[in-house]
Amino acid sequence: MKNPRRSLLPLAGVIGWPVEHSLSPYVHGFWLNSYNIPGNYISLPVASKDLPDVLHTLPKCGFAGINITIPHKETAFVLADHASDTAQRLQAANTLYYTANGQIIADNTDGFGFIQNIIQHVPIDHDWRKPALIIGAGGASRAVVDAVLQKGASIVYLANRTKERAEKLANDLKNPSNLVVIDWEQKNDVIEKTELIVNTTSLGMKQAASSPVCVLDIDFNKAPTHCVVTDIVYTPLNTTFLQNATDAGLTTVDGLGMLLHQARPGFKRWFDLDTYPEVTPELRAYVLGEKF
Ligand code: ATR
Repeated sequence: MKNPRRSLLPLAGVIGWPVEHSLSPYVHGFWLNSYNIPGNYISLPVASKDLPDVLHTLPKCGFAGINITIPHKETAFVLADHASDTAQRLQAANTLYYTANGQIIADNTDGFGFIQNIIQHVPIDHDWRKPALIIGAGGASRAVVDAVLQKGASIVYLANRTKERAEKLANDLKNPSNLVVIDWEQKNDVIEKTELIVNTTSLGMKQAASSPVCVLDIDFNKAPTHCVVTDIVYTPLNTTFLQNATDAGLTTVDGLGMLLHQARPGFKRWFDLDTYPEVTPELRAYVLGEKF
């Protein structure tokens, strides 16, 4: 049964608290315009106490689904009626779909975004089975670790300043034998074995002018020449972490593409496209021009 409200004007959006900083309305707005779809994508600031009511009301107003951002990703997963395997592994959702009778299906596309960004920007196919080093164990790290493991990495070294947090992340992912938590000080000891190095920490992010930007102490000169280095921080686009990797002759991928690619599955399904919308240089330029 088709929801009659849907045929009027497909609606979607992003829920967060706060949500003003979200780039998602620019991304989806660009695609709505380029694919000539008469829909709308809006930002909805929703406090935690209101989330259940809002999520159950939106399909009654014609919403096909919604993106979820901080701090609601875990609660949205709990509130969903069904969940994809990825959302279940991560126990968190960033994309919700509504069924015709208003049920909520939870998905998590952050890992998809991470992988697709690398696939798009690395000139020679990256061999995902090779060892990886992932730095950081915060909210953003979880999806990246899971995605790299799902791609078949033979070993993922995980280093976090607070080791207990990395151990908890490994535990939440059911302690796969190829996920190895190492000490923060051991990062440089595994570099020569790794062909993918990822920064998921907030180090290097542009702060207030007064506060110094901290930099990770990674010795990229020890890395194999075909090692790929990526940072999920995208303000600035070219972080010192990436610049140091470039200076050492390594291939680097900036973090903006992860944000753009994670949006594709939601857009396709909500706005009924046959294929995923494309991440083009024009989209990147538009988002950069509007927001930075
Ligand atoms: P997010 O959800 O965006 O990942 P987060 O959950 O606050 O944000 O996690 C931030 C990450 O950056 C964590 O891995 C954090 O390390 P801790 O778990 O030890 O706090 C890391 N981080 C932030 N500041 C750091 C610093 N000065 N040195 C090293 N790691 C840092």
